[in-house]
Amino acid sequence: MNKIIIFDAYGTLFDVNAAARNYSKKMADPDFMKIWTKVSNLWRDKQIGYTWYYNSIGYKTNFWKITEDALDYALEFYNLNKNDNLKNDLLELYKELDTFPEVLGVLKELKSAGYPSAILSNGTMEMLNSAATKSNINNYLDIIISAEKLGLFKPNEKVYHLVLEHFGCDIEDFVFVSSNGWDAAGGTAFGFSSIWINRNKLPEEKIQWKPTWIGSDLNAVLQIL
Ligand code: LAC
Repeated sequence: MNKIIIFDAYGTLFDVNAAARNYSKKMADPDFMKIWTKVSNLWRDKQIGYTWYYNSIGYKTNFWKITEDALDYALEFYNLNKNDNLKNDLLELYKELDTFPEVLGVLKELKSAGYPSAILSNGTMEMLNSAATKSNINNYLDIIISAEKLGLFKPNEKVYHLVLEHFGCDIEDFVFVSSNGWDAAGGTAFGFSSIWINRNKLPEEKIQWKPTWIGSDLNAVLQIL
């Protein structure tokens, strides 16, 4: 039986910097254009950080609220919080993030080779459906599974477990793919074989759960299988 390939969404399929980059291309705000990469990085760091806060505290919320709160923080940090349009435009662009250039081709190839595939993401269904439809990758995935119904986030093991519940298969039947080191580690800790897509050439996380394989972009999935 072909392995079932489970993809993380943000940072793995969708380029989380695309919202700020696409806004900066509109040249609507000269201050933002100068520092959009810093704003985008802080936005992402806070977004992930807040998921860990909520998971640890044990308070249920959803990833859209966290995405908005993290953006509020980043805009305030860089004194860009007086411009309401900036916030609203960035959030709208986040619903339609670009995929990385190789993503659509890899998903098409996996589908034609008969591999079932899915997204498992902390994103809400609405966010994920919107971005996956805009980029047309929804046609090459069997299902999108969201942590939303649990109100908690990866790397909590209950979220990875949603995949087993949906497919009704054993843990050995899956390969989990994420560009987020903490998420590849979470998948490994849960028991999946994992591929860490190290897009940003980062050092490996110094924690005990190592990815089974490492690649530099999503083409690695085709090479490894
Ligand atoms: C995801 C984010 C956190 O779950 O990368 O898609």
